[in-house]
Amino acid sequence: MGFNMRYLDLRRKIRDVRMWAIQGIAEAGSGHPGASFSAAEIMGTLYFRRMRHDPSRPGWEERDYFINSKAHSAPGFYSTLAVAGYFPSEEVRTLRKLGSRLQGHPVMYSERQKNYSVPGVEYSGGSEGMGLSVGIGIALASKLDGKKNRVFVLIGDGESNEGQIWEASMAAGKFKLDNLVTILDRNRIQQDGFTEDIMPLDPTKDKWAAFNWQVFEVDGHRVEQIVDVLNKAAQVKDKPVMIIANTVKGNGVRHMANNPQWHGKAPPKRHTEVLLEELESECLIAPSIIAGQRENYEDKIRKVEREGVDMIHIDVMDGQFVPNTTFFADKIKKLRPSTSLPFDAHLMIEKPLEQIQEYIDARCDIITVHAEVCTENEFREIQERLIVNGISPGIAINPGTDVPEWLYRCLHDLDVVIVMSVNPGFAGQKFMPKVLPKMVEVNKKLREHGFKGYIEADGGIDATTLQQAYDAGARIFVAGNAVYGGGDIHGAVIQLRHKAAVALERRLLNHATQLNIRPDWMKARKHILIPYANELGIEEELHAVK
Ligand code: DX5
Ligand code: ZN
Repeated sequence: MGFNMRYLDLRRKIRDVRMWAIQGIAEAGSGHPGASFSAAEIMGTLYFRRMRHDPSRPGWEERDYFINSKAHSAPGFYSTLAVAGYFPSEEVRTLRKLGSRLQGHPVMYSERQKNYSVPGVEYSGGSEGMGLSVGIGIALASKLDGKKNRVFVLIGDGESNEGQIWEASMAAGKFKLDNLVTILDRNRIQQDGFTEDIMPLDPTKDKWAAFNWQVFEVDGHRVEQIVDVLNKAAQVKDKPVMIIANTVKGNGVRHMANNPQWHGKAPPKRHTEVLLEELESECLIAPSIIAGQRENYEDKIRKVEREGVDMIHIDVMDGQFVPNTTFFADKIKKLRPSTSLPFDAHLMIEKPLEQIQEYIDARCDIITVHAEVCTENEFREIQERLIVNGISPGIAINPGTDVPEWLYRCLHDLDVVIVMSVNPGFAGQKFMPKVLPKMVEVNKKLREHGFKGYIEADGGIDATTLQQAYDAGARIFVAGNAVYGGGDIHGAVIQLRHKAAVALERRLLNHATQLNIRPDWMKARKHILIPYANELGIEEELHAVK
């Protein structure tokens, strides 16, 4: 993936950003969840992975600049700065309060304005359309001074109605500002409705290209795509770069997604706990390509990529640790160019430390080794080597294995724990329900010791067992047979997602009931709940909600 991605760590940090942002907005009773959420992956990838910056030295001369031109995404921006380390995350709760440094629209930080803003804010926003011009000024100055600072500007599609955006666009082309990258948060919704109704922007790509920009387009919620495109952007010469990031306004909270109402509205404070649970419950689906026919893996990858799965689970079996052989690093290397989806490599091999370098070189994004074949020292060495290479480290435990005591000393940089729900070796085995209480226990104990990563369920996951594993705390689901076992991959992924959604809605409803806000929650959520009402057994109740 290029620079230090550590896929799961990046995802988790972005999840935290959303969680802080919603708390800030709910506490304030006002603010903009829609744009904070559509731009969360963009800002997170920049701050946590791409930009050269130092939270302890916000004025560092060599830093890269970020200009949040669409300044109303402030709650997301502040939360990103906080998670990056510019100030304590707790402070996000003071958003928009009298006396807070976190104004509704961010104020540029300086000694003089230090009571009104936080370190890291480079631009006072609020009036739309101006940030790109400021970014151009910084990029020009940096060039004139012969310096290497790069400038990243985030603009909105509603904001692109402003004439100043297009004047700036012409200027950046004229000056060939290849140290300037602009990202368009293309969520297609602005304050009063859909952008294409109010002032159509399409063909956006052609417009920017005609203004002499190098244009790229990505899915703005796929961090792996954002990482890749930022790598490409760094190679462009003599042209400014425009990245059109296709996003969903309000992405992360289902009843806010794609709904103009949530451009600038706060959820009621009493919903906060449930919303936090929703954000925390984000679930990732990872089809295991060894299941089904043992051939044409490229094709199998392509098919699930089309279905919008999150990662590809790759089972490496050496015939020693498990009684079966699949493939090794050389095969993974060959598969790598076929997709930008993250590779979740599960090494079922006897001597992981001896072979780890091959899997690093094959550019896996997550590498999990088994606890049964590691000592503490060996695992520490594996973990260190993965971290310096920007790879998420994981540990797997078999159904009969407990979490080794030494693991509690390695939790700081641990991104995943696979709790096997079959004895490893083959796809298509039956899920072992006895691992469910263990999963609950493992999750609880690991969290108490500071584990921040993901629990991954692997083995016999289908539409039914997924729900059980979900309730037991798993957030990554490997699915082999369930996806590749029948003839209908499309239907299979839809069903998994549907069941995950039902499980989520049930959890959230239960939570709302405990908090005594069930009718109120159902009202906010009505349009989301309708397709699941029957399975949730709430048809009549939902019908009565006005
Ligand atoms: C088991 C593997 C699993 C398996 C998943 O040894 O680690 O990843 O292939 O396949 P299903 O979902 O069919 O159990
Ligand atoms: Zn596996």
